[in-house]
Parts: sequence; C-alpha cells; structure tokens
Amino acid sequence: MSTKVRVALFGFGRMSQATARNLLKDPSVKLVLVASRSAGEKVGRDIGDILEIPATGLDIKGCDQLPQHLAATRPSIVVDFTNPEASLTNLKTAAKYGAHLIVGTTGYTKFQTEALRSIANMYEVSLVMAPNLSIGINMLIDSAKKMAKVLSGFDIEVIEEHHRYKKDAPSGTAIRLASLIAEGVGINPEKGLIFGRQGNKSAKGREIAIHAIRGGGTIGVHRIVFLSDNERIEIKHESLNRNAFTDCLKKAIKYVHFHPPGVYSVEEILGLETPAPAPKVIKMDVS
Ligand SMILES: NC(=O)c1ccc[n+]([C@@H]2O[C@H](COP(=O)([O-])OP(=O)(O)OC[C@H]3O[C@@H](n4cnc5c(N)ncnc54)[C@H](OP(=O)(O)O)[C@@H]3O)[C@@H](O)[C@H]2O)c1
Repeated sequence: MSTKVRVALFGFGRMSQATARNLLKDPSVKLVLVASRSAGEKVGRDIGDILEIPATGLDIKGCDQLPQHLAATRPSIVVDFTNPEASLTNLKTAAKYGAHLIVGTTGYTKFQTEALRSIANMYEVSLVMAPNLSIGINMLIDSAKKMAKVLSGFDIEVIEEHHRYKKDAPSGTAIRLASLIAEGVGINPEKGLIFGRQGNKSAKGREIAIHAIRGGGTIGVHRIVFLSDNERIEIKHESLNRNAFTDCLKKAIKYVHFHPPGVYSVEEILGLETPAPAPKVIKMDVS
C-alpha cells in the first residue's frame, strides 16, 4: 500500500482498544480519529493513557462534535464497535463525509441493517457488516455450510458463549451460522430459527435452536452440534484473545481500500465465498 489508509474508530471499549493497539503497529494504516460516547469519561484522554502505552497524541473525541472531527481528520474508513443505535447515527454522519463503513457492532434488527445499507447506497460508500470478524469463525461458517448439505437429516443446535458484559444475545455470529445452516438444509430461517427451547416439546423438526451462555471473561465460543440417532458431530471455534478479530479487521480495511464502493461480506473478503450480485437496496428514508 503506497499511502497509509486513514482510519477512524468509533467507540473505545474492549474491541476498539484491541483494534487500536493493533492498528498503531501497522505501517500501512494511520489511525486519525477515535470518537466515543460524548458523556463518557474517556473523552479528552490520549488513547495511550487508556491502552497503557506511551502517549500517542490522539485524544478521544466526543461523538456530539463528529462532523467537525471528521472534517478535520478526513478518515477514508470508519470502524465501528459501539451499539446499534449509536452506530446508525454516527455512521450516517461518517458516510456523509465519504468514509467507508466497517461495522463490527452486532445486535442490529433487520430494519437497522437495511437502514445501514441505504446509508451506504445513498452516499456511495462501501459497507462491511462484520458480526463475525475472525478467520477461524469464518472457517467454522464455511465448514458448517458444507456439513449442512450432507447432514440434512440431523438435528442441529448452535450454542454460543460470551463474557458477562455482552449486550446482545444470541450473538450475531450464532444467528448468521444458524441462518446459513438453515438455508443449507432447506429450512426457512425466518420461521425455523428458535432461541432456546423453553416450551418447545420436541427437539426434532424443521428448526434450529440457538442457545446463549453468558458469564466471566469468555471472549467468544461457538459450537454447532449435529445429532442423529446414531451419531453426534460437533464443530467448535473459540477466540483466545481479541487479536483474532483485529487480524481479520486489517484484511477488511485493506480490501475496502482497494475495491470500488460496494457491500462486502467478511466471507468474500477472506476469499471463502464467490461474490454474489449486490442485493437490491430497499430505498429508506434515512434523512
Ligand atoms: N464483529 C465481531 O467479530 C465482534 C467481536 C466482539 C464484539 N463485537 C461487538 O462489538 C460491539 C462493541 O463491543 P465491545 O466489547 O467493544 O463493547 P464495549 O466495551 O461496551 O464498548 C462499546 C463502546 O461504545 C461506546 N459508546 C456507547 N455509546 C456510544 C455513542 N452514543 N457514541 C459513540 N460511542 C458510544 C462506549 O463508550 P464508553 O466507553 O464511554 O461507555 C464504548 O467505548 C458489540 O456490539 C459487540 O457485540 C463484535
């Protein structure tokens, strides 16, 4: 990469801190802006202070002044790790300033996902919705899709485990895994995904159940169990630290930088999926 990619980070919690730590070491990237919750105690502090490294000269800005900060720093890519409500507002502002959007935040409703697509479409910037930023998780998804084709008679359960602070349940990755497996075995994901089994009389049928475990410091575990009367197959992925996410994120940054504006999946970025024609964007009023 001849010139450094100018990157902004929205949010400065667990994920953004791991990302910043990594990006600061990457000579092809320049971290130009970190913006977080305006009322948050981190605003005004040098990110080095929070990361417990020498001062970087990059102070955390409040998102209430986002237009001014974007105008001053001109990031070409924004990476968001906040929450769905905050990110919709902040990413729209970023898109107005021409920044491509890599969205690591999870927990979006269908409506919010469509709104993000509409924003990217309206401002002609790239969008990567990335609830599954890890090479290993994407290998799990790829393997699960292949297994689902062969194991169509099996009962299937998806189990995920995360730290006690995770706000959404089940995880975006678990939903994506279950949806792709459902498609592979011919189950309609709209009707066939169930969350937990309370009140469900039978584990059999045209459904895939997703179960969430919350506690401790678990970074992320996803398991898929395929069960027949005679066999049990389980595949599992575990994130050992948050660098698992940031390695994949760096690939996404470079991919977006070198490709024309479009909606890209992490699978496509990792070369696991043949690019599908871009889905039709439903025009929404996102003004
Ligand atoms: N894509 C993936 O592979 C992946 C992996 C792990 C997690 N995630 C997702 O990434 C998201 C963040 O996770 P995390 O563990 O980093 O959470 P976190 O530690 O709670 O960090 C969230 C950050 O967002 C900031 N924030 C809250 N409201 C805001 C607003 N209105 N404007 C700007 N910033 C705001 C918070 O500010 P304060 O610090 O002031 O509270 C905090 O810095 C979650 O949705 C999580 O599920 C994705």
